[in-house]
Amino acid sequence: MLIVWWSFLLIAGVLQNASPGPACRISEFPCRNGRCVRLNAYCDGLDDCGDLSDEPPYCTVCNRTYYGDVSKTYDLKVLKQPDNRLPFLCHLTFTANGQSHGDIVQLMFDEFKVGRYEASALDGCPDGYMQLSELGRPFTGGSWCGSSSGPAAYYSETSTVTVSIKLFQNPQQPFQFRLRYRFVSRREAVVRFGSPSAPLERGQVAPGTYCTRQFEECYRKPCRLQSPNYPGMYPRNVSCYWSLRQKIVPTCKHAMIAVRQEAAHKMHMKRSISVAGLNKTARALRAWRDCTGERDHLIFYDGGSTNDPVLAKYCGGDWLPRVVSRGPEMLVAFHSSPFSIPLHSPPSHSPLRGFELDVDVIFADSDSLDYSRDSLRCDFDVNATNQDGDEIWSGRGRRGSLISPRHSLPPNTTCTYKFRGHLGDLVWISFVSYSQRALLVGENAQALIGNSSTGGTCATRLRIWDGALLLEDKCDDSPKLCDHSALSNSTRITRPCTTSESYLSTGRALIIQHHTEDGTALHPASFKLKYEFIDTRLGGEPWPGKEQPGPCHRIFKNMRHGEINGPRNTFLFGRGGAKDLHCVYRIEAGVDERVRLVLNNASFGISPSCESVSDAHTGRPSCEYLPGGRVAELSVWELPWRDIRVPKACLCDNSSLSNRPMSLLSSSRTLELHFTTKDMNISEDFTLLHFHATFEIVSMPECPRKQRVRGYGGDVQFASPPIDRSELLCSGMPWLVESRFNRSLFLLSWGAFLPLRPRPEEPSRCPTTNRILVYSGKPPKLVRAICPTTPGDRHLAVHVFSEEWWGEDSIHYVQKPPNFLVEWISHEQGVAAFSWLEISRSRSSLLQQLQVPINASANDTEFECMHKCPELDACISPELWCDGKDHCPSGWDESEAQCGATSRLLTSLPAAALAVAGAVAASLVLLICLSLHRLRARRRRRLAKKKLLTGPRLLDPGLNS
Ligand SMILES: *[C@@H]1O[C@H](CO)[C@@H](O)[C@H](O)[C@H]1NC(C)=O
Ligand SMILES: *[C@@H]1O[C@H](CO)[C@@H](O)[C@H](O)[C@H]1NC(C)=O
Ligand SMILES: *[C@@H]1O[C@H](CO)[C@@H](O)[C@H](O)[C@H]1NC(C)=O
Ligand SMILES: *[C@@H]1O[C@H](CO)[C@@H](O)[C@H](O)[C@H]1NC(C)=O
Repeated sequence: MLIVWWSFLLIAGVLQNASPGPACRISEFPCRNGRCVRLNAYCDGLDDCGDLSDEPPYCTVCNRTYYGDVSKTYDLKVLKQPDNRLPFLCHLTFTANGQSHGDIVQLMFDEFKVGRYEASALDGCPDGYMQLSELGRPFTGGSWCGSSSGPAAYYSETSTVTVSIKLFQNPQQPFQFRLRYRFVSRREAVVRFGSPSAPLERGQVAPGTYCTRQFEECYRKPCRLQSPNYPGMYPRNVSCYWSLRQKIVPTCKHAMIAVRQEAAHKMHMKRSISVAGLNKTARALRAWRDCTGERDHLIFYDGGSTNDPVLAKYCGGDWLPRVVSRGPEMLVAFHSSPFSIPLHSPPSHSPLRGFELDVDVIFADSDSLDYSRDSLRCDFDVNATNQDGDEIWSGRGRRGSLISPRHSLPPNTTCTYKFRGHLGDLVWISFVSYSQRALLVGENAQALIGNSSTGGTCATRLRIWDGALLLEDKCDDSPKLCDHSALSNSTRITRPCTTSESYLSTGRALIIQHHTEDGTALHPASFKLKYEFIDTRLGGEPWPGKEQPGPCHRIFKNMRHGEINGPRNTFLFGRGGAKDLHCVYRIEAGVDERVRLVLNNASFGISPSCESVSDAHTGRPSCEYLPGGRVAELSVWELPWRDIRVPKACLCDNSSLSNRPMSLLSSSRTLELHFTTKDMNISEDFTLLHFHATFEIVSMPECPRKQRVRGYGGDVQFASPPIDRSELLCSGMPWLVESRFNRSLFLLSWGAFLPLRPRPEEPSRCPTTNRILVYSGKPPKLVRAICPTTPGDRHLAVHVFSEEWWGEDSIHYVQKPPNFLVEWISHEQGVAAFSWLEISRSRSSLLQQLQVPINASANDTEFECMHKCPELDACISPELWCDGKDHCPSGWDESEAQCGATSRLLTSLPAAALAVAGAVAASLVLLICLSLHRLRARRRRRLAKKKLLTGPRLLDPGLNS
């Protein structure tokens, strides 16, 4: 215990001996009595030391250096000098001595009245001024004077700042000068440096300059362009050059530098401006002509040097609109005027002064049209890509969208977009958006540089040229817009733009000129548009005759070979606004020539609701639609005669041709290819709906027979394989039987009727794959499919009457004489035949059909025909009667009763066969009579039913029973 006490005294004694009297720190003033007081206690008029050693006579606060401690605020006042002490010079030096003495100095000028400030005079501070200089920075020479209406803050860039006040000889001048000062550690100064965890990139000051800095690679770092001494007032008469550069640019990218400040509290240059009548949406800006010599200003250069074009000259406002350089370099120059009143911070506002600008690096695809390649011109070429090759189907290079340059354009710039299509192309453009906005309002509205301003010019002008013809000319106004398309994206497709919402050239070239008079930095003008090259070529020649039956009906003739593509004109498809598409391509060969057509590929949309199946009778591809499926097909038709089309093939699913092309040889001179799509949706175009076919003309003699017949009747034989040259050359050619007006047709063949559209799972009851197909009407409609047997067997005779025979469609019958188109489908060995007759109604059957009781007019034979096949109850031509050939199915016209004993047919047959034939005939007649009777009864029932539904027929009141 004793030892401890002793040693304490010892240590205390040693310390006392080492430093006599209290040691004062650098931030303290040592009083003579040993006390330590603040440095600013010196000469403040108060006896802080207690022995007046801090208030010597004639003392002054000037020419002293002040230190202090972090987080303490000190104040200082310079008193008005007696007149005889003028001129007066006073230096106040403040040093932040590091650590607890701070890193930077904050000054707050609470009272500032130093002579007069004369804004327009050459020497703005005639009576005296205050100047600031920092250790290690060149002296700028700028001065403050006049009366500040409120406190103004200053933050040093370095550790030491000297305030110099100079007053000239002038007894009347007002003088008041009081300031507070603090020493701030770097850590605390987050507004300038950012937080320690997220420091701001402020660039390095170039040696020998006050504030010129270089910024590089601002892509990842948060670069900030700060006014010197931010966030306090900046020095006078200072010029800073901030060069921004992005050196590392990813391949296939193009870099641009953007500078902006949206926040009003970070944008203070000189005095705040108030323009009467401005509200929040139209914030005040001062720029260009407004930036006279006495105003501090920023100049943005579109490149790394002051020789580059000026994008904007800005001298005040609540915000800075985005200014973007064309390339990876931008130079921003800041100049402050030599004289000013200190910028004060009104108490209601943020205490920050000066400004801070945010920097962004924008990357665009190097091959995009988002930026101008040339630094001096703003020209874009949009060339349609080559249409040959597979590229066409993808549509790549034929359509796209473009936006106005993403960089700012200097004043008096015209951007020209030249769209060049290929021969046969049209250019279609639609503006998705178009905006132009004057940021400079009121007297600054036409803030042009220089004296070029002439009233009435357009700030923004858009012109569209269709070749040499001016299609549109808009002055500060929007062109036709198709703005709903702005809503479309990858999952949502909007309806096509109409002609009133878009522009279409009449030729292959279209030019857009977009002019900005004020530059787009301070008068933003931008647009987004979609363009498309429309390929109007169709191949072949127009359809003969003045009237085109459709927009894509074409004829290919006088060509040995050729190529046919589906149309590529967007306007014919859903994406161009069309609903249905129907294109007909006719290929015509010459005399003794035929067409060989090869279908190479075809597409019918994303999910066609149809299947190409092999037709049960013909074996040809045919289109089988799902219920409710929309029509989308490619069909091939043969034209044996100009007015008759016979179906040859129909394709409707995308896999039809996926394995191998399909080849067809015509039987006649003309083939037609029909490409049809109904109910297209708005996303469909030729990339989804297309086909490709080739053709060649081959020499081959034509069918020498005349297979389009009319007259009283006739017989036709078919054989497979063909028995002679003419049959060979005519294979594939159908027979066309036509009657005269007011006559009907009857067709007799041998075999059995088959269902027209047999279900695939149903086994065919026909022993052969050969068929006789009977079509009727125009266009021919399949009415009967016959499984053929050897001709002549009366048991297996089949009858086909033309439709109107049954009285269903008598009006139609009067207008169009009936016809039958008969096609022989030969797949295997076999023979077949058919006979045809032109028939007319007997009076009795006519009356029967009209439901007139037969006995009412039985005695009236005036209209009864002489030559009637009883089993048909039909009259045939007298020419056929007893001509040695059976025409009535029963052979009644050649029977002995009708023609006497010597019938050529009968004599030509052996007696035994004749007897059998006679018996068969008799029974057949009976059979036919019975079946006809049944048929009539059925018809009568049907007619009665029809009458009930449609009411009494108004023929003759007496005839209605
Ligand atoms: C301060 O020092 C300057 C010379 O550096 C001198 O001219 C001036 O009179 C001094 N000011 C005062 C108030 O002593
Ligand atoms: C405010 O600005 C908007 C848009 O510029 C303008 O339509 C409106 O008239 C302005 N209001 C006043 C009071 O100036
Ligand atoms: C577009 O075509 C024009 C004329 O053919 C040519 O001069 C220009 O270089 C082409 N531009 C592009 C980008 O291919
Ligand atoms: C604007 O540019 C055009 C062409 O570049 C030039 O002829 C004209 O003199 C310029 N006008 C002004 C006012 O600079």
